[in-house]
Amino acid sequence: MAGVSSGDSPRIPFHLPSVDAADEAAVLEVLRSGWLTSAGRAAELERRCAELSGVAHGVATNSCTAALHLALVALGVGPGADAGAGGCAGGGADADAADEVVLSPITFASAANVVLHCGATPVFCDVQPDTLNMDPDALAAALTERTRAVIAVHFAGHPAEMDRIRAVCDPLDVPVIEDAAHAIGARHKGRPVGSLGRVAAYSFYATKNITSGEGGMLVTDDAALAERAKLLSLHGMTRDAWKRYSDAGYRHWDIVAPGFKYNLSDMQAALALSQLDKLAAFNAERRRLVELYDRLLADVSNLEPLLRRADVESAYHLYVVRVRAGAPLDRDGLMAALTAAGIGVGVHFRPVHLHPYYREALGFRPGMCPVAEATGERVLSLPLFPGMRDADVERVAEACRTALA
Ligand SMILES: Cc1ncc(COP(=O)(O)O)c(C=O)c1O
Repeated sequence: MAGVSSGDSPRIPFHLPSVDAADEAAVLEVLRSGWLTSAGRAAELERRCAELSGVAHGVATNSCTAALHLALVALGVGPGADAGAGGCAGGGADADAADEVVLSPITFASAANVVLHCGATPVFCDVQPDTLNMDPDALAAALTERTRAVIAVHFAGHPAEMDRIRAVCDPLDVPVIEDAAHAIGARHKGRPVGSLGRVAAYSFYATKNITSGEGGMLVTDDAALAERAKLLSLHGMTRDAWKRYSDAGYRHWDIVAPGFKYNLSDMQAALALSQLDKLAAFNAERRRLVELYDRLLADVSNLEPLLRRADVESAYHLYVVRVRAGAPLDRDGLMAALTAAGIGVGVHFRPVHLHPYYREALGFRPGMCPVAEATGERVLSLPLFPGMRDADVERVAEACRTALA
């Protein structure tokens, strides 16, 4: 394993992408092809991701954030019929007017940011204490007549309780967007992530289960939504560059909507396709490492792991633990001890609604999502990536044990 030297032992990074000769060859082929931006490789990735998800359509994007934004815009989420832009539950001036999108705060801020970019209002609902996924009962209480969508993240790769979430949303005709940034290849009750809501978004960011450096994908069974998202992903143009400059000669194009620049290049798509070939093996190795962590940390009573439900197949994106109240070190103390031992760590996540912007500009306050808030003080993520050796996991577990003794 590659690593940066720290004292006697090599540093164990929080994450290291697994990139092999096949990945390099796939990118090189595109570099030598004379066509670098979105074309055949991106289209192939769209087909493969749709197939993996058990749905009909994929739209390749340059990030998961872009895919989430496109999903919201394509669903018509906006400032509301009688409102200006902006607004926020619990604080914004347009809170009575804007469309609302419900999401849990134990997620990456981009999911909430894109709600704001639509001129809509993020409404945060609390999480389940065992998985840190959206609590369907809290969701039911958060829905209003202004709710236009729900974003359910599959936190750490463990699918949210989508059947219960859908049971709350479907009768009200509220579409559910799966934030599957952590969960490519996961399943819930035998059904693939990506097919569990109206639309889903994957991430191919550098630390994700498969990567293209930066990249994302929207998948859906809804043909009209896919067509709208595709159009908006490239400026709202009627023809993408591949079609404008094809051998058939130049063709005029029209702008039919104020779209975005969210397309994925073929260089990145080629890398993601090559990585996708290894997804099952990557996720199986992640699972093996997670089970090793479970065994090694079972008697470290000051650490509390997350629950994995029997009816899900996780993508094992993160190994998240919580430091118990009353432990000799708190979360930040344990992170400092692990850092000093040459071990990379992460925090997923401090609740979005308590970040300064969300508090100061939008009026969110502590107390709105108590489970998420208590958890946000105690969570940390240990290194987890397919290139880790068993000895690395053993070293991380031993460092946790020593620090918390
Ligand atoms: C849960 C979640 N959603 C969305 C994103 C955004 O992904 P991207 O960086 O591809 O935009 C991330 C990124 O870390 C994430 O963790």
